[in-house]
Amino acid sequence: MHRHPTENENRMITIALSKGRIFEETLPLLRAAGIEVLDDPEKSRKLILDTNHADVRVLVVRATDVPTYVQFGGADMGITGKDTLLEHGGDWGSATSGAGLFQPLDLQISKCRISVAVRADFDYAHAVRQGARLKVATKYVAIAREFFATKGVHVDLIKLYGSMELAPLVGMADAIVDLVSTGNTLKANNLVEVEHIMDISARLVVNQAALKLKREPIRNIINAFAGAIGKA
Ligand code: PRP
Repeated sequence: MHRHPTENENRMITIALSKGRIFEETLPLLRAAGIEVLDDPEKSRKLILDTNHADVRVLVVRATDVPTYVQFGGADMGITGKDTLLEHGGDWGSATSGAGLFQPLDLQISKCRISVAVRADFDYAHAVRQGARLKVATKYVAIAREFFATKGVHVDLIKLYGSMELAPLVGMADAIVDLVSTGNTLKANNLVEVEHIMDISARLVVNQAALKLKREPIRNIINAFAGAIGKA
């Protein structure tokens, strides 16, 4: 039998966040919307966190899963990096994008860049001459594929899930595509940034069906976030 959502589920707003920097930098935005998270995800093992509002809850999910939770309605909205959204798929240049996700705001938090880096002794300019072939290790295969295709450089992509800096050091790849913030990780591993692919920041994403069904409470949160951008 078809199950109708309870009245509680209809009013409940669920926000997907990942632990770490995005979570910390999102707290002031939530506060601007009058929302206080009552648990600390670094201390608690709970995955559903209560807030001071009975009808607002926060899910703690893996960073790469935030777009999936919002797309499939497990969360009404979420906050995630532009890098994660691009890897998830869709055209993120516009406010209304594919995959049932509405992207109304650049929150201007968790800013960094995505770059190409190589060993300091590697001749990158020579390696990317027209028609050359480059071995690239990265977690960001979609971004890397698109970037090198535009440059006309053939790439063999090696998918990694972390510590990408190691790949050029052990001879597994010529280059990496990774997030750079301070540049300290590259420096500590004798790597140099040779191309800046794009700037990254955290984005608010909203499930399009939820936006229709719970328009007012979601609009209130979007407006409060918009008013708080850059002030945190
Ligand atoms: C990112 C990235 C680099 C590091 C760069 O990792 O993968 O390793 O930050 O920062 P820096 O330029 O300030 O040294 P992150 O800490 O986000 O964790 P991850 O390894 O899980 O991606």
